Amino acid sequence: MTDTIDYFTEERSEEVVNASMGADISPRLAAVMTSLVKHLHAFAKDVELSQEEWAYAIDFLTRTGQMCDANRQEFILLSDVLGLSMLVDAINHRRPSGATENTVLGPFHVPGAPEYPMGTDISLDGKGESCLFTGQVRDSAGNPIEGARIDVWCDNADGYYDVQQPGIQPKWNNRGIFVTGADGAYSFRGIRPVSYPIPDDGPVGQMLGALGRHPNRPAHMHFIVSAPGHETIVTHTFVDGDQWLSSDAVFGVKSSLVATMEAADDTAWRSTFDFVITRAEPAS
Ligand code: BEZ
Ligand code: FE
Repeated sequence: MTDTIDYFTEERSEEVVNASMGADISPRLAAVMTSLVKHLHAFAKDVELSQEEWAYAIDFLTRTGQMCDANRQEFILLSDVLGLSMLVDAINHRRPSGATENTVLGPFHVPGAPEYPMGTDISLDGKGESCLFTGQVRDSAGNPIEGARIDVWCDNADGYYDVQQPGIQPKWNNRGIFVTGADGAYSFRGIRPVSYPIPDDGPVGQMLGALGRHPNRPAHMHFIVSAPGHETIVTHTFVDGDQWLSSDAVFGVKSSLVATMEAADDTAWRSTFDFVITRAEPAS
């Protein structure tokens, strides 16, 4: 009698675990978990995971969770450095050619930044090299988009976001929101962004070190561009020529997002980038 029971074996591990799922669960949950178990078991078999390695992984994930609080999300950072955040973003934001591409949001966006008139300087700490950011928001037919909301943020000249240095940097340093007029144009002043390391004082930083990887991101300005009836773009523009462009710690660089950075005069830079946003798919 007992030999008809499908007990767990090394050979049939995946089938046995997946067969334990209830029949009436959500089809999507069943599909996702079946695939997860399949790939997880195949991975353990592929590398012949040792007991010590399994215990290390459990401890690593435990420490990753313990590092998380309201201001630090070590699991998203882990997803970022493994390329998973960029992959999920790519799967979910396939766009026609010519439309501006997405990249990672990152952990330093703060909703509710002040809205400023075009041309305002968002650098409040007096550090860094001045840079004028200009361009236009258009639809895929080339028409300027009025009322597009442009939410921008970047690190200061020392390589830290304001939220990483409360009490040191002014609140809302290097952040702001701008809304386009009928010409779809935007312009604001900030600093020429500088490259910086992602937070690497936790388990993710230890993992990067063990893998012989550096924690640096190439210099960039973050943008969220949204307009009624259009798909929201979460992206950056990267500073052309940055030394980390080809080895971004979170794989966020796309060639279409590398913006020009030219000397506007002896004292300031100018970076120009146009955004092309597509119409939002009607909700089905
Ligand atoms: C950022 O660009 O702000 C960022 C993105 C991913 C991880 C850490 C920082
Ligand atoms: Fe950033």
